[in-house]
Amino acid sequence: MTPIEQVLALVRPEILALAPYSSARKESKGGRVWLDANENPKTPAAALPSIALAKEGRLNLNRYPEPQPADLIATLAALYGIAPAQALVTRGSDEGIDLLLRTFCRAGQDAILITPPTYGMYIVAACIQNARVVSVPLVRNTNFALEADAVLKAVTPDVKIVFLCSPNNPTGNLLDRAAVLRIVRSLAGKAVVAVDEAYVDFSGVPSLAAEIAANPNLIVLRTLSKAFGLAGARVGTTIADPAVIAVLQKVIAPYPVPAPVLQAALAALTPAGLAAARESVATIVAERTRLAAALSKLPVVKLVWQSDANYLLIEVADSARVMAAGRAAGIIWRDRSKDVPNTIRLTVGTAEENNSTLEVLSRV
Ligand SMILES: Cc1ncc(COP(=O)(O)O)c(C=O)c1O
Repeated sequence: MTPIEQVLALVRPEILALAPYSSARKESKGGRVWLDANENPKTPAAALPSIALAKEGRLNLNRYPEPQPADLIATLAALYGIAPAQALVTRGSDEGIDLLLRTFCRAGQDAILITPPTYGMYIVAACIQNARVVSVPLVRNTNFALEADAVLKAVTPDVKIVFLCSPNNPTGNLLDRAAVLRIVRSLAGKAVVAVDEAYVDFSGVPSLAAEIAANPNLIVLRTLSKAFGLAGARVGTTIADPAVIAVLQKVIAPYPVPAPVLQAALAALTPAGLAAARESVATIVAERTRLAAALSKLPVVKLVWQSDANYLLIEVADSARVMAAGRAAGIIWRDRSKDVPNTIRLTVGTAEENNSTLEVLSRV
């Protein structure tokens, strides 16, 4: 073996075999209109003064930041209607997912349960931790509805976390609240249920976070990446019983909230920032309705799934051909055919961006 081969032989076999998460930014470079990562089309103006603060030298970058900044925790707690002790700020909700795996699943022994097609990071985090993955698919011909009985039947004693994504990525639908709560209650003392609410702000329904007080095995994941337009700042919140938060605090890296990120998040969550975010969500939801109606009239589009999120899943006859047409026009969507045959996920962008989507699809 060469010296570097000897080094690589020391790497855990499951990491050598790992298929890493394939993010939108890794899959597509270039393009003019980015509608592939379910981002908000605009940076919130309220967050910009934080950049000025950095320029003026009023950010103490020589000092380590507060591990869990009290002012941000208090602001997020007010935003999400929870107690500060129920919140943990993470680098995006992706870090929350990883923390849950590392905290609840013993490597090589425990398992998680997912309901595919769903967000890809649950499997990646499970593989990194060498946790088994039990899958209970959401079925296409029931509009990807959650089947609580099938989930409960599949929970073996090694399953420590059930991940439910609502609204679900990539299908866009909310999961039935009663079905989710039935799973939570049935698994009390057996497993935790992590409900990923990255897109709940676009759904108009309340978060499940209020149910945590009565159900300490419920965990909710929220993020400022979508409705609040701060994907680049990386601010997620894990919401759980204070005792669970205390355990997660043992596992998280010491300083997950960089000082400039703290300033950007606080600025985005002032009353003016919150009003702007509400307006942005209303605009995106109105555009979603307009885009869905217009898409369903195009010959190339066979089906538009109903969406409670800031993206639409469509079925076409030949997704590769449609993706190529988008690329040729500088528009990047996300091909989800690996999850649901011949489907493409379109992020709802600005009116102008959505018109570009419609224009290109009308020509395919
Ligand atoms: C369902 C879902 N959960 C979590 C995330 C991660 O979001 P972030 O880490 O930016 O908070 C995403 C990102 O696209 C997502 O779609």
